[in-house]
Amino acid sequence: MPNLSISYSEPIKFVRGEGAWLIDDRGRAYLDCFNNVCHLGHAHPDIVEAICTQSARLNTNTRYLHDAVVTYAERLTATLPEGLSVASFACSGSEANSLALRMARTMTGSNDALVLDWAYHGTTQELIDLSPYKYKRKGGKGKPAHVFEAAIPDSYRAPLDWPVEEYALRFAESIGEQIETMRKQGRAPAFFIAESIPSVAGQVILPEGYLREVYRMVRAVGGLCIADEVQVGFGRVGSHWWAFEMQGVVPDIVTMGKPIGNGHPMSALVTTREIADRFNNGMEYFNTFGGNPVSCAAGLAVLDVIERDRLRDNAAAIGAYLVARFRAMQQRYEVIGDVRGQGLFLGIELVNNRKTKEPATAFARKVNEGAKVRGVLIGTEGPQDNVLKMRPPMVFSRADADHLIEVLEDTFAMVSAEGA
Ligand SMILES: Cc1ncc(COP(=O)(O)O)c(C=O)c1O
Repeated sequence: MPNLSISYSEPIKFVRGEGAWLIDDRGRAYLDCFNNVCHLGHAHPDIVEAICTQSARLNTNTRYLHDAVVTYAERLTATLPEGLSVASFACSGSEANSLALRMARTMTGSNDALVLDWAYHGTTQELIDLSPYKYKRKGGKGKPAHVFEAAIPDSYRAPLDWPVEEYALRFAESIGEQIETMRKQGRAPAFFIAESIPSVAGQVILPEGYLREVYRMVRAVGGLCIADEVQVGFGRVGSHWWAFEMQGVVPDIVTMGKPIGNGHPMSALVTTREIADRFNNGMEYFNTFGGNPVSCAAGLAVLDVIERDRLRDNAAAIGAYLVARFRAMQQRYEVIGDVRGQGLFLGIELVNNRKTKEPATAFARKVNEGAKVRGVLIGTEGPQDNVLKMRPPMVFSRADADHLIEVLEDTFAMVSAEGA
C-alpha cells in the first residue's frame, strides 16, 4: 500500500533487536528511544520463551476454557484500582477502543462523544471519527456531527493571565462548554475518551486535578469516562501502573495495547462489573484471536518481568534523571521552550522564541534526523510537530540515558550552528 510513510529521509531496515538496541542490515546499532511497544526491550528472553513454550503446547480461543486467560485477567486487574475488575481481550489498541465504544453506547444509549483536540484513538472509521489528529489533517473529512472536541489542556500554552493553580479548572471549562453545546442540541455524551497523557498532542502532562474535574462534569450528565492507556500504560510513568492514577481518578473503562505483549499483537479492556453485566445483552463479544493462550502467556510474562525487575522504579529514576539533564540543556539552548515528562514518557518542546512560543518545527525535524544519523532514534510530535518525543524501553539504563544526552547535545550544537 502506498499510503504509509516511512520514518526518516533515508529509511532504515532493521534485522535484529536486543534490549534498547536495534541493529540494521549493515550491522549498525541504534539506541531505540521511541518504540514503546517493546516495553521491556527488544527480543526480551522471558517473553520469547513464554511465547515459544505456549505455542509449542497449544493455541486456541476463548470459546474454550484455559487457565492462562483467567490467570492473566486476575493479574491484570490486580494492577488496577478496585472496581475495575472485568477484563476483555482483543488484538490491537483500536479493537480495545472499539469495544469501549460499544460498551459506552450500550450503557448510555447515546452515540455522542467528547474528545480532546489532536487526539488519536485508532485506525477504524469510528475511531478516526474520534481522532482530530486524523479527521483534521490530510484526507480527513472534518469533525463528525456526533463528536465534540475540547481544548488540549496544555499547560505550556495556557493563556498568560491564568494562575497556575487554576489550570485544571480553566482547561476543564472547555469541556463544560462542549457539554453545554451538546445540551442545546438535545444531546449528551455517551463518553469522554482521552489518553491519560495526550501523546500525539505533544506529550502533554495534564494539569493536576484536570481529570477529576472533567470526570465529574461528564458523569453529571450521564457519560462514561474512558482512559486510553494504549501508549502510556504498564508502568511507563514509573510512579504508577497507569497514568490516570497520577490524576487521582478511576475511569469506567481502561483500554490497553502497544506495550501489553512486548510486541506480540494483543490488547485489553478493563471495566467494572456493572458495565460488563449491562453489556451482556446477548449480542456477545467474541474475538477470534483475542485472549488466546499464547497472548495470555506473553502478557503474563510482561507483568512478571515488570514486577521482578522493578522496572517501574527504573522508569521513575531514569525518567527523572533525563528530565534533569534536559532541563540543564534548556539553560544553554534558547530553543528548548519546555521540558516535560513522567517516568519514561518524555517531551522537549522547541520554540523559535520563548515569549511568543512560535514552534521551531524545522529545528525539531533536524534534531530528529541528526540524532538518527548519530545512531539514536527519537520522534517528533504535537500539532506543530515541534515536540521531541521519547519513550525508551523500561530497561533503559543510566548509560543509555547518558548516550542519548550526549547525542542530543551534539545534535543541538550542530543544528544551532547550522541554523534550522
Ligand atoms: C493512544 C492510542 N490509542 C489507540 C491506538 C491504536 O492502537 P493500534 O494501532 O494497536 O490499533 C494508538 C496507536 O497508535 C494510540 O496511540
